[in-house]
Amino acid sequence: MSTDFRKSTVYQIYPKSFCDTNKDGLGDLRGVIKKLDYMKELGVDYIWLTPFFVSPQNDNGYDVEDYYNIDPRYGTMEDVEELIAEGKKRGIGLMFDMVFNHVSTRHEWFRKAMEGDPYYKDFFFFRKGKDDGAPPTNWESKFGGNAWEYVEKFDEYYLHLFDVTQADLNWDNENVRREIQKIVRFWMDKGVRGFRFDVVNLISKGVFEDDQTGDGRKYYTDGPNIHKYLKELHDMTFGTDAEILTVGEMSSTSIENCYQYAGADTGELSMVFSFHHLKVDFMGNEKWVLVPADFAKLKKIIFEWQTKMAEHNAWNAVFWCNHDQPRVVSRFGDEGRYWKESAKMLGTVIHCLRGTPYVYQGEEIGMTNTDFAEISQFKDVESLNHYEILQNKGLSASDALRIVQIHSRDNGRTPMQWDDSAYAGFTSADSKKPWIGVNGNYPRVNAASQLADPDSIFRYYQKLIALRKEVDVIAFGDIEPLAESHPSVFAYRRTYEGHELIVAANFYGRECSWKSAPDLSGFKKLIGNYSEGSVPYNGKWTLKPYETQVWYK
Ligand code: GLC
Ligand code: CA
Repeated sequence: MSTDFRKSTVYQIYPKSFCDTNKDGLGDLRGVIKKLDYMKELGVDYIWLTPFFVSPQNDNGYDVEDYYNIDPRYGTMEDVEELIAEGKKRGIGLMFDMVFNHVSTRHEWFRKAMEGDPYYKDFFFFRKGKDDGAPPTNWESKFGGNAWEYVEKFDEYYLHLFDVTQADLNWDNENVRREIQKIVRFWMDKGVRGFRFDVVNLISKGVFEDDQTGDGRKYYTDGPNIHKYLKELHDMTFGTDAEILTVGEMSSTSIENCYQYAGADTGELSMVFSFHHLKVDFMGNEKWVLVPADFAKLKKIIFEWQTKMAEHNAWNAVFWCNHDQPRVVSRFGDEGRYWKESAKMLGTVIHCLRGTPYVYQGEEIGMTNTDFAEISQFKDVESLNHYEILQNKGLSASDALRIVQIHSRDNGRTPMQWDDSAYAGFTSADSKKPWIGVNGNYPRVNAASQLADPDSIFRYYQKLIALRKEVDVIAFGDIEPLAESHPSVFAYRRTYEGHELIVAANFYGRECSWKSAPDLSGFKKLIGNYSEGSVPYNGKWTLKPYETQVWYK
């Protein structure tokens, strides 16, 4: 295991969809233990698990009822302890997902608030409505509808930026911050080696005013005390242990704030997730539309974050996939003829960047978007809400379904495809049906067949992960964008202590040529996704469909 996070790779697990060992159709912690050797073989340093704490599961565990106990559907505290110990034996650190912007309305704090206990009411945002009884502000919930829920007995509303069962915590209350510090320390004492903080840049609310131009996000995103609260959390908890890796999920953030969040010496977090590069197939902030991905914009955003974060000595988490995103091979690659080539190409572009790469379960075997044909197959609260909202806006049921199929978070949540047995080996043939449908392509797309094939996507990811450890320019180098205005090439140069790395990738399914490409004399090829080595340089490079090549000097 590398304890230098610049050389590390993180593997993300969505436990509910990873591996089921007790045949109830839900993945569990023993399933994660069972697959540790698989992740060891891939070569990752950390595993980030999405939440498995006690929860009513309205948002699959991002609605936490009790941060100190394990939801029995996932396992027990003994399982967690064993998982941490078994990970450690293999040099893999466990990272837990801390949801502190909100709690489940079933959390004790909220229940006491609802009983009228003023101490706990101040853990949340209870506010009077407007004179006409309308909600305090016009802010929209990220999952659709107004962000305030009316409570008759107080004649007040409480704030929920997400589901109505996810009540926002009032971080301006010092008692809330102290409770949160206690939770983080509890898990540090158990041996957890890292934390991912859920939508953590939303914790500091500003003024409660109507948003005349938007959905309200400008009032609570990167809010007034955000840096103060993160520094305090750092100082009171993980800041005492320099080896703990922390990553903040930053919703609609600004890069200027990220210099602070993830600066090498700002005393906040190790790194940040930002999402602007994954909105290139949105219309502005509107996700529930069908527009083709804008490649020029994708490059521009990634290069901006790469170069400016470097200038400010701040660190990115780099990624395409997580449990909230469609599968990247379906999104920016090709599920069909160039499935393998495009999956490898996309992996290369991320893994050679300046930042810590994250691999989301199934990405390393080229898993694709769901093949769900009916709305009833979708489970995600956000998708189901927006399916209704789209129809209320006048779209037909089939047009609304098409949009959901493309953008749904469930695309990343179907069961991990382990082999070609029943239910893709996620659970056994005599189990209850998996909680969400298995993608029908599992006989072809699965881990067992990838492990057996030396030329597979899995084997390629394994090499990418190993290269970051072996070749310092990947971990430590500066970055310079290349081919910035080329319509199909994504290319960049990394440099470090006299060494140089050139990465080039064709993002499309047609051969292309890159004129005025760099001269490669003295370079050797480190990795690429076509075996027949096309000699690239003769004044220009020619790249086959979805071809990528990485050269080193
Ligand atoms: C984050 C999580 C997402 C969750 C939301 C609310 O964006 O990644 O899955 O629904 O926060 O907690
Ligand atoms: Ca289970």
